[in-house]
Amino acid sequence: MKKILAITLCLLLVAGLAACASSAKQAETPVLSMATEGTFQPYEYYDGDKLIGIDVAIAEAIAEKLGMTLEVTDIAFDSIIPGVQTGKYDIGMAGMTVTDERLEEVSFSSSYATGVQVVIVKDGGPITSVDDLFADGANTVVGTQTGTTGFLYATWDIEDEGLGTVKSFAKTTDAVEALKNGQVDCVILDNEPAKALVAANEGLSILDAEYAVEDYAIAVAKDNTELLGKINGALDELIADGTVQSILDKYIHE
Ligand code: ARG
Repeated sequence: MKKILAITLCLLLVAGLAACASSAKQAETPVLSMATEGTFQPYEYYDGDKLIGIDVAIAEAIAEKLGMTLEVTDIAFDSIIPGVQTGKYDIGMAGMTVTDERLEEVSFSSSYATGVQVVIVKDGGPITSVDDLFADGANTVVGTQTGTTGFLYATWDIEDEGLGTVKSFAKTTDAVEALKNGQVDCVILDNEPAKALVAANEGLSILDAEYAVEDYAIAVAKDNTELLGKINGALDELIADGTVQSILDKYIHE
């Protein structure tokens, strides 16, 4: 009987040690969870069922520097900031523009890239220049992705000015489908995803004029100043040693 007790105790001890060891191991490589929205090539998009792109690659390099394991989740773009605010995700990285409105909700890292808002139209359609959007009597239906700066510009500059209406879509690809089948007259979107979508869909063009220039950065919860500091430290090093530029060059071919 004594022997059985001793064996049982021994087994318990071994199990306990194993549990300790595995939790110690987990503690060694903490997870850096990132929320993104995956219809934004070349920043985040699917290669088969794998999410790749500039943001994923930069976040991976940051996680590596911090000794963390990156975990990427693809969610609706307008859920990213709430998810970061509530701590469901550590960072939001989605070609996300730094804006005054967002700065009230989250903190942003240093900027790692620039975006330009452009206008996509259907070839042979009524809109041939950005000026057409602001012409007297214009009545344009503008497609945008929900929660983006493109949506804000379209709302402020077109809908609020009585120059048309805005339709929002969960995915950039849905907005482009709507343009193709005539539900919207144009789509306002960031230049690189716009180029990728125009390349992937026949009969679409990007209008010449640039609509607005923006800085992309990583969103972190306001109270998570420690993580923000670490991310900026890692990002600044990756910018200084050329890693960020080489990632941008890998995914953006002019
Ligand atoms: N730069 C724009 C913004 O911050 C659009 C970003 C959309 N990103 C995405 N992964 N869908 O509002």
